Formats: sequence, structure tokens, C-alpha cells
Amino acid sequence: MPNKEKYLNNELLINARKPEGELGEKLIDMMNENHKNLAQWSVNHLEISKKDIILDIGCGGGVNVKRFLKMTDNNVYGIDYSDVAVKKSIELNKKAIEDKRCEIIKGSVSKLPFEDNSFDIITAFETVYFWPDFENDLKEVKRVLKDGGIIFIANEALPIKDDERQKEFIELLDANIYSEKELNDSLTNAGFCDIACFKKESIDSFTGDYANWICFVAKK
Ligand SMILES: C[S@@+](CC[C@H](N)C(=O)[O-])C[C@H]1O[C@@H](n2cnc3c(N)ncnc32)[C@H](O)[C@@H]1O
Repeated sequence: MPNKEKYLNNELLINARKPEGELGEKLIDMMNENHKNLAQWSVNHLEISKKDIILDIGCGGGVNVKRFLKMTDNNVYGIDYSDVAVKKSIELNKKAIEDKRCEIIKGSVSKLPFEDNSFDIITAFETVYFWPDFENDLKEVKRVLKDGGIIFIANEALPIKDDERQKEFIELLDANIYSEKELNDSLTNAGFCDIACFKKESIDSFTGDYANWICFVAKK
């Protein structure tokens, strides 16, 4: 029998893959707060112009959609396959949605409901761990990016050898924690170029443990 505290924690944490119900809403509120530092650090590596049309995939609670609305004068879109995430993102970006500068859509990265060559920048914060077919999903991202458009990936986890806590997390969430090489190879195999990687030693936003943040910027 798992102890109660651990059981409750896992019950909450499992929502990181696909937030659902009350606990999904609770985890989204926590992620909005806890992922702030990773987002602030990583976005510094992304050049955004006022004309850019931006899509955030796996948008969760929509904080990065809100961030990008301040960085571009053009439209910002968020997509997530979780109903709860879509609802929370809509609540957070209500005004911009009413002003027709923002759309939050329910859907999967594997089949993006957009035409070819639609976006200047596509971002993915803390979500690629859960994408079902990473390399093909990257090709789908490439399809909807304009020529010369940018894909941006930010993760606060890299594989840690023999780390029991990370192993538990991977099993609980059925997640893939990719190494720098795997991320680089997948972007290359999907056809991206000018790949740049940035790393920072930091702490995990949920556990407070040592963590390696990583972000990639690559061009179509
Ligand atoms: C750990 S949360 C990160 C949320 C947000 N990007 C952030 O940084 O706070 C992962 C999000 O990715 C979404 N997600 C996972 N797999 C997805 C997929 N295949 N298609 C669309 N969204 C997905 C989940 O529903 C969840 O909202």
C-alpha cells in the first residue's frame, strides 16, 4: 500500500501528462507558477518580432500564450489535448480572445488543425515528454511552420542515470526524458536546421532537486 501522502502526490502529478478534473485544474495552477522561471530563462533565447504569429503546443494553463501576446502585435494560438487545459487557457486569455488576437484550440500535436506554413514561431514548454511519436510530431510541427520559421523546445529535465525519483516519475507518467543528443537528433531527422541548444544548471520546480534545464531553437 502506498502511503497516503505519496498516493495523493502521485494522483496530482499524473495530471502533468493530461490534466483532468479538479486535480488537473490544481496542477495547472501549480505549473503556471512553478514553470515561470524556466519560461523566463528559456524565452531569452528566442528572438520574437512584433509581426510574428506564434503557436504554443501543450499550452497547459496558457501563461506562455499570455506572455507572447505581450511580445508580438500579431496573433497567438494555444493548443492542448486536455479539456481542462483549454478551459484554463481560455479563462486566462479571455480579453485577447474577445479582441480576436488569440485562439485556444483543443487538439493533439500529432494532427495539428492548421494549414501548412501558418506560423513564424512554435513553442513547446515542458510537453515533449508526452508526445506520442516525437520525430513524426516534429515533422507535423514543421508542416505548419512557415519556411524559415522557428521551433522552440524548453524542458526542465534531462536524463539522470540511476536516479530513482526520475525513474518513478517516468513510470508514473509514461514520459520520455530526452537527452541533449536525442533532442538534437530528432530535430535533425525531422528536417530542422540551424539547431542551437542552451543549458542551465538549476533546481526542479516541483521537487527542489538539482535539475538541468535545456532549450532548443531550430529553423525550418
Ligand atoms: C507538463 S504540462 C506543461 C504545460 C505548459 N506548457 C507549462 O509549461 O506549464 C504538459 C502539457 O502538454 C499537454 N500535452 C501532452 N501531450 C500532448 C499532445 N500529444 N498534444 C497536445 N497537448 C499535449 C498536456 O495536456 C499538458 O497540458
